[in-house]
Amino acid sequence: MQTLFSNHIEVITDRYFQAMQKHGFDHLLIPAGSLLEVFLDDNKYPFKANFHFLSFVPLPNIHDSCLILTPGKKPVLCFYQPIDFWHLVAGDPEGYWVEHFDIKMMRQKDEVRGYMPSNGNIAFIGEMVAPYQDDDFDAINPMGLIHEINWHRARKTSYEIECSSRANQMAAAGHLAAKEMFYNNGSELEIHLAYQLAVGQNESELPYSSIVGLNEHASILHYVNYEAKSPSEHRSFLIDAGARYNGYAADITRTYAKEDNEFAELIQDVNTAQMALNEKVKPGDSYIDLHARYHFDVAKLLAKYGLSSMSPESMVEAGVTSTFFPHGLGHQIGLQVHDVGGHQANIEGDTAPPPAEYPFLRNTRTMEAGQILTIEPGLYFIDSLLGDLKNSEHAASMNWSKIESFMPFGGIRIEDDILVTASGHRNLTREFLPE
Ligand code: GLY
Ligand code: MN
Ligand code: MN
Repeated sequence: MQTLFSNHIEVITDRYFQAMQKHGFDHLLIPAGSLLEVFLDDNKYPFKANFHFLSFVPLPNIHDSCLILTPGKKPVLCFYQPIDFWHLVAGDPEGYWVEHFDIKMMRQKDEVRGYMPSNGNIAFIGEMVAPYQDDDFDAINPMGLIHEINWHRARKTSYEIECSSRANQMAAAGHLAAKEMFYNNGSELEIHLAYQLAVGQNESELPYSSIVGLNEHASILHYVNYEAKSPSEHRSFLIDAGARYNGYAADITRTYAKEDNEFAELIQDVNTAQMALNEKVKPGDSYIDLHARYHFDVAKLLAKYGLSSMSPESMVEAGVTSTFFPHGLGHQIGLQVHDVGGHQANIEGDTAPPPAEYPFLRNTRTMEAGQILTIEPGLYFIDSLLGDLKNSEHAASMNWSKIESFMPFGGIRIEDDILVTASGHRNLTREFLPE
């Protein structure tokens, strides 16, 4: 990690320094962020660090520290370590990353003001809260600078790829434990807890709330309700859950059937389609085309299982496939699960929106070596969307009794994290979770 981190810091500081110089800033302040209090309460929301800070400092849990960048100089890290007998205090900075910073220890949050530059143009990227004040800065969250950084963030350094790989390794252990708990008839809550225990991260450390859905709940795209009571019958199980390593996220989905039935066969078919899509990941190619291609896979599956009598072409043309696959094929992933910049057309920050027929596609960028993308095709039986289809001109072409026979199983999603390489791709997920 030492060498990887050393190269990473060189690349990242160079990106920020160049962007600062281009946009006319002599200094840049990047606070890690503060613990935010619930309205009229003394409880705090879980802490989520400013990802610009996390790009440099591999500590996702420290708050009220601050980074000060000045081109040509070692980044200054004002490290907040209060004297506090109520909470666990951040330990002394140590490890392979420390030598890359000029570290100033702070006991009070406002000591940071003593280290703020007294001349030159100063920009600030973060949430404007005390001890900072608007008028300390020449620019707060300047979009030109941010667009430039966001554009580059899609290209991961070798250190970032290693962190993502380790996050996938951790999440894979959780997925195996969750699968076992499902086959042992666990409740959603038991599965959720088995997952966290195997990963070794609590809910607020995970990159997003795990989606743990049994039976019909597998059709609710963002179901995070974890029923404590086990259902009377375990038919199917969809789990979309990740892990973080030094802040970098894994985002993995698997779907299982309890019995060897037609739904189990459909899972295998979606899995086969997913793996074929992974094989198509290569630099220079269009991600939008991959998304569109999967709509034809959905159409072919609807035909194969006798769910629709329309031709695959007309199912796609008429938008029938969107009833069964309403979301996008995936997204950029990194320090954020849905990493910024997926809709960016260029370094200046012009947007490249998704095609009108696929409004939820989160990535429209051409695939490029160094990007990490999820490939997450699905096929669902969603009550409300099927209701719309039933009221449409295509209702007569659908086999409703067959559709209803699948509804108790909810739906299917298979999701891996894929690195685009110079010659093709590397599947960061299946290296640890082959099935
Ligand atoms: N877990 C959120 C997603 O797959 O995008
Ligand atoms: Mn996911
Ligand atoms: Mn995802």
